[in-house]
Amino acid sequence: MGELKVFINGREVKAKEGSTILETALEAGIYIPYLCHHPNLPPIGECGLCLVRVNGMGLANACDTLVEEGMKIVTENEEIASLRRERLTGLLMSHLFRMHRLLEISQM
Ligand code: FES
Repeated sequence: MGELKVFINGREVKAKEGSTILETALEAGIYIPYLCHHPNLPPIGECGLCLVRVNGMGLANACDTLVEEGMKIVTENEEIASLRRERLTGLLMSHLFRMHRLLEISQM
């Protein structure tokens, strides 16, 4: 497999061809939050916490977007932080609703 050059938060990073933005960032020591990603499983792109902005592409899930030569990726800014907070809140609310429902059912 070949090697590509991408830019994450303005920093030049080498990436393996066929790898995702998330894999590339983590290998370079750049943290991107993630919840539904597991390195031994195919990406499912469900939680949305790994959201990043890619130049020319817009917002994308880092866990299921493959790197391309010269790609410019932003992993942190106010917009991304706000969207991640919204998604995390949605996940927690959904979880709390299910837990509450299970509690109701268990008391019937
Ligand atoms: S880690 Fe969940 S959508 Fe990317």
